[in-house]
Amino acid sequence: RAPEPATLVIFGATGDLAKRKLLPAVFGLWQDGLLGSAFNIVGVGRQEMTDEQFGDFVIEALKSSKETDEPHPGALEKFRDLLYYEFGDFGGDEVYSLVGQELDRAEEAHGGRKNALFYLSTPPSLFEPISNGLGRLGLADESEGWRRIIIEKPFGRDLASARELNAAIHRVWDESQVYRIDHYLGKETVQNLMAIRFGNAIFEPLWNRSFVDHVQITAAEDLGLEGRAGYYEEAGVVRDMLQNHLMQLFALTAMEPPAAFDADAIRDEKVKVLRSVRPIPPQRVPEVAVRGQYGPGTLYGEEVPGYREEPGVEPGSTTPTYVAVKFEVDNWRWQGVPFFLRTGKRLPKKVTEIAVVFKRPPLGMFPGGTERNVLAFRIQPDEGVSLKFSSKSPGQEMVLREVVMDFRYDAFGAQLESPYSRLLLDAMLGDATLFPREDEVDRAWQIVSGLLEAWEGPDAAAPDFPNYPAGTWGPEAADALIGPDRRWRRL
Ligand code: BG6
Repeated sequence: RAPEPATLVIFGATGDLAKRKLLPAVFGLWQDGLLGSAFNIVGVGRQEMTDEQFGDFVIEALKSSKETDEPHPGALEKFRDLLYYEFGDFGGDEVYSLVGQELDRAEEAHGGRKNALFYLSTPPSLFEPISNGLGRLGLADESEGWRRIIIEKPFGRDLASARELNAAIHRVWDESQVYRIDHYLGKETVQNLMAIRFGNAIFEPLWNRSFVDHVQITAAEDLGLEGRAGYYEEAGVVRDMLQNHLMQLFALTAMEPPAAFDADAIRDEKVKVLRSVRPIPPQRVPEVAVRGQYGPGTLYGEEVPGYREEPGVEPGSTTPTYVAVKFEVDNWRWQGVPFFLRTGKRLPKKVTEIAVVFKRPPLGMFPGGTERNVLAFRIQPDEGVSLKFSSKSPGQEMVLREVVMDFRYDAFGAQLESPYSRLLLDAMLGDATLFPREDEVDRAWQIVSGLLEAWEGPDAAAPDFPNYPAGTWGPEAADALIGPDRRWRRL
């Protein structure tokens, strides 16, 4: 499948995300011939720049990004010919009218159609003004070609603002035109979770409260702030990772099998399971959630500063960089099975994993007892799936040892596609399966709102931060949260 001829309009085209992820992804898709016969890019920004200067910027960005595929001979020069640039004030009309003229100009080469994908790679405060501007100038109207809009995260900063943003977007766009991006859904291994669950007969019968003891979802990052204090101080870990990426991993793990592998069937199931998650009232938060902030510590043998010492962070900042939470799901399948989610910055390594931990055998007949079986989906790095079970250790004694059956993605011998390439191409093709729908985002905010209220509301107690040294697995209280008879996986 190749997309119809189209123009990709990137707002915020000279920003960090465009430079590091988006432009390399577009270039890779284009170079592999996946973007169809006619395609061009219009960068839009507030900064004054000519097409020529934008071309220089893009080529420079591609050369400096680690994510850029090796260019074929002459490819960069040809790619440069596809690039145009417009600038102006996003609150006025002129810049949108210039974008409209770009679509007019491309019409002939695009077979008489004016298809356009608008990518909002800007600070969130600009989502609404840009969407409105495109609406005012009639650019959301699909009479001359399809029109779609991709909105980057964060989608709102709490339930109320997410609802306002959704309402504002819907005044201009139909939901079928809206693509909210969560790059975790573009990860090959995240999609593989669905493949393994629903493409095999052996897992699904075990996937419920009769066999599963609990589920652990971990997204550990070794990185600290990476110069993003301005954004992160406002966001914190709940908005940055939990409300979106972890909640998506959770929904895909816990949802019912969809009736078909299509956008609505899958998204219906995700919403359904999110609706079954028991909301956490603020007063219960201390029992079911732990927050943390890293202090100075050692990572990979080097000393690293604490969060409060990072450039741009307030010395008394109470922004959390770690969260662990226990969710309970009130539905037939999962009644009584806790889901433990944790994520944090400056943990000992980068690793994302979903582990389904099974119950112990009903009878412990071997000395030393038996361990729980674990089916683990390793999202990144060392992508793969492993099953941990007990086996007799060779020798006279009947002693059991845990062994692992391991599937590694590199067995396919193919390089994994970048999530941004996958998602961009899907949006060009009009496939919204891997994009969270309005009701999902709304429900995810509802689920975390108890945490936000307990930790940021008027009655919030000041946290005792920092409470974990950089380079460790987070605050000790997180062990108590999952314990006493369960423990976090050692990753
Ligand atoms: C982003 C967050 O959405 O996801 C970052 O804003 C985080 O803070 C990143 O580092 C993690 O993504 P990945 O793909 O590197 O796991």
